Amino acid sequence: MKIAVLVSGGGTNLQAIIDKVENGTIRNTSIEVVISNKKDAYALTRAAEHGIAAECVSPKDFEKREDFNKALVERINAYDVDLVVLAGYLVILPEILIEEYPNRIINIHPSLIPSFCGAGMYGLKVHEAVLERGVKVTGATVHFVDAGVDSGPILLQKAVEVEQGDTAEILQKRVMEQAEWLILPNAIDLIAAGKVEIIDGKAVIK
Ligand code: GRF
Repeated sequence: MKIAVLVSGGGTNLQAIIDKVENGTIRNTSIEVVISNKKDAYALTRAAEHGIAAECVSPKDFEKREDFNKALVERINAYDVDLVVLAGYLVILPEILIEEYPNRIINIHPSLIPSFCGAGMYGLKVHEAVLERGVKVTGATVHFVDAGVDSGPILLQKAVEVEQGDTAEILQKRVMEQAEWLILPNAIDLIAAGKVEIIDGKAVIK
């Protein structure tokens, strides 16, 4: 299975995918391209260090948003991928991409959807809201992307304890280490093995 990974930041989720493709934990999968909206995203450096095509497609480089949208889809299509993985990608996806890749785009969100998700809920903000609400358990979710925000079929989730004295930074790191970096690679491996089906809007693992 050929995948494209879309990133915006440090790329720790991308690194987990790279490592697990290289050590065989993620089977039958190749990362064809990593695309970021930020030229200086360290995720692009991580890709280049592993000989993976790394491109920047930034909305800032286009007069009109629809030109960016077209360019992004065109670059993804150029690699003829089977699955698009959003790994810390902070740009609203073009409708045309979702239409061209129905149930072939997955996203990692750092909470147990439907809690702490939706517009504006990304990065540290998610963990700040978790601490503010005082929940005892949080976690991460891998879901298929549809036209909504964080609203598509849920594929995998993993719970993480919130501990006394947690700051948003400490909690984010724990959620990454104990959940994100495990369930995103696992989701890719399951899809590559043909073990995932969408039935009545729900992701079913065969
Ligand atoms: C982090 O907030 C992570 O929880 C979310 O995207 C952000 C950046 O992750 N999935 P990464 O280090 O760029 O993978």
